[in-house]
Amino acid sequence: GLVNTREMFAKAIKGGYAVPAFNFNNMEQLQAIIQAAAETKSPVILQVSKGARNYANQTLLRYMAEGAVEYAKELGWAKPQIVLHLDHGDSFELCKSCVDMGFSSVMIDGSALPYDENVALTKKVVEYAHQFDVTVEGELGVLAGVEDEVVAEESHYTKPEEVVDFVTKTGVDSLAISIGTSHGAYKFTPEQCTVDPKTGRLVPPPLAFDVLAAIEKELPGFPIVLHGSSSVPQEEVDTINKYGGALKAAVGIPEEELRKAAKSAVCKINIDSDSRLAMTAAIREVFATKPAEFDPRKYLGPARDNMKKLYIHKIKEVLGSDGKA
Ligand code: G3H
Ligand code: 13P
Ligand code: ZN
Repeated sequence: GLVNTREMFAKAIKGGYAVPAFNFNNMEQLQAIIQAAAETKSPVILQVSKGARNYANQTLLRYMAEGAVEYAKELGWAKPQIVLHLDHGDSFELCKSCVDMGFSSVMIDGSALPYDENVALTKKVVEYAHQFDVTVEGELGVLAGVEDEVVAEESHYTKPEEVVDFVTKTGVDSLAISIGTSHGAYKFTPEQCTVDPKTGRLVPPPLAFDVLAAIEKELPGFPIVLHGSSSVPQEEVDTINKYGGALKAAVGIPEEELRKAAKSAVCKINIDSDSRLAMTAAIREVFATKPAEFDPRKYLGPARDNMKKLYIHKIKEVLGSDGKA
């Protein structure tokens, strides 16, 4: 069945790689994730956001994830290492409901709350979840951009001096931090970037690896999580724009930085936007080049293939989690 993150993260830290956490809210995304993980033998975290629950129905998503374990075996993956994780839980009740319905891991995101309230809420979720062997991710520090419905205009890096106290008081199994990543396809404004003179493309400011190093020093061997880690592949953005889309100045995290992070205590890297871009690019291309098609399989199929290619690339070329499950 589904597994929690405990052993998965311990292995990832020791092995110097990161486990991919991919969001899903539909069948094609889930198939692409499982096919990619099965082919590469990579542990994988299936993430469900509050928005995904509202969109696709939590019961359906839960059984889809459980079915995915069987599907993975059919694909020849003898011992699938698959986690079903709540992404950005914003209340005790939401986390409890996911624990009760069979999620193997939950995130309680109290990062927008005052410190003491974040501690109290996170601790309450941990006390409940651990009774059922469900692992819990907490968050300290605020990411710029949109964290579900919480809009953070500015990012506030995680304060390394707070992490030991937070982890000790709450008992969390992993900690999401803020070192300059953010959610969505517009992670940096053009003003924050420099321009590559050769390509004319925007080059984002570097992540705060000094903050990450300071956190690692405080919490040796403790699992760290990076949200907002899409790279916004330029070829997908170009395809979308070529076929009628209008994505302007979309900028992500360079894969080189994620590669470096994956070798550190960062053992979970969250990617959602890149999958959305891969899906949209493929669908737009079919709509534009084969306007007579109206069978959804004719555009959702290519979308699935394009997402699978992206997931395999992330696993093998960026996170290094292939062959670890
Ligand atoms: O962190 C946000 C994830 O990308 C999920 O996004 O809330 O639109 O489902 P969502
Ligand atoms: P991206 O928007 O960069 O894909 O981040 C996803 C995420 O952090 C989900 O929690
Ligand atoms: Zn996130």
